[in-house]
Amino acid sequence: MIDGKAVAAKLRATVAVRVASLRFTPGLAVILVGDDPASAVYVRSKDRAAKEAGIAARTIRMPADTPEVLLLAEIARLNADPDTDGILVQLPLPPHIDAVAVIEAIDPAKDVDGFHPLNVGALASGRPALVPCTPAGVMKLLHHAGVQLSGARALVLGRSSIVGRPMALLLLAADATVTIAHSRTRDLAGECRRAEVLIAATGRPEMVRGDWIGEGATVIDVGIDRLPDGRLVGDVAYAECAERAGAITPVPGGVGPMTIACLLENTVEAAVRRRGG
Ligand code: GUN
Repeated sequence: MIDGKAVAAKLRATVAVRVASLRFTPGLAVILVGDDPASAVYVRSKDRAAKEAGIAARTIRMPADTPEVLLLAEIARLNADPDTDGILVQLPLPPHIDAVAVIEAIDPAKDVDGFHPLNVGALASGRPALVPCTPAGVMKLLHHAGVQLSGARALVLGRSSIVGRPMALLLLAADATVTIAHSRTRDLAGECRRAEVLIAATGRPEMVRGDWIGEGATVIDVGIDRLPDGRLVGDVAYAECAERAGAITPVPGGVGPMTIACLLENTVEAAVRRRGG
């Protein structure tokens, strides 16, 4: 089992040491629009983790019916604020707000989620700048588990802009042979079975079954889904898959904590780039 909680705790401690060594305090602004309960939980965790690392974090809560122009005005204010190094707008946004316009409004140098087209383009052309936190966290877990990526057959299940696509680009940058599979892929099970490294990011609870896993494969589960009975599960049927996998991440306690730790790292990175070490 790959213990994401432990790896994340180490990374957070490293970030805290780096923050303490700076001449200034990095600032992170997290914007939450509306009251989606899952988003509220994530935002609280991000805020708390940032403060624990010595980052000046603040959460800006805006009502669900906030007009898009007001959100854009808040972003413009934060872009101009010298004390704010990182800006994160929690997704999803209410349906009346154009998420693409909002992301494009963030100063790319403060885009600690790595979602701005300039940062996406940098990653796609192999010159990564600020990299999306979840795929960055997965790469650190693979490194920690000692997985040899160069030449390995890696399969990314899911093609979202937040996880699947950037994940594939990071694996490619690490010299893996990368396949992106998705809902239209023929023979999903067969594609998965051939993979030496499998990253599941479908958002479908326990979709990946035990017989989809090649013997000894490394399995990273990015999903977090709540079943009707209240159980928290990933995109991977853990018990079945653990029998065949060489290494596997649990849910919770796998990728989730790494996402937050990488956000802290991105914030410090953005701060140092803007202000100098
Ligand atoms: N919603 C789900 N994941 C993320 C993320 O990584 N960043 C933001 N801003 N919103 C999210």
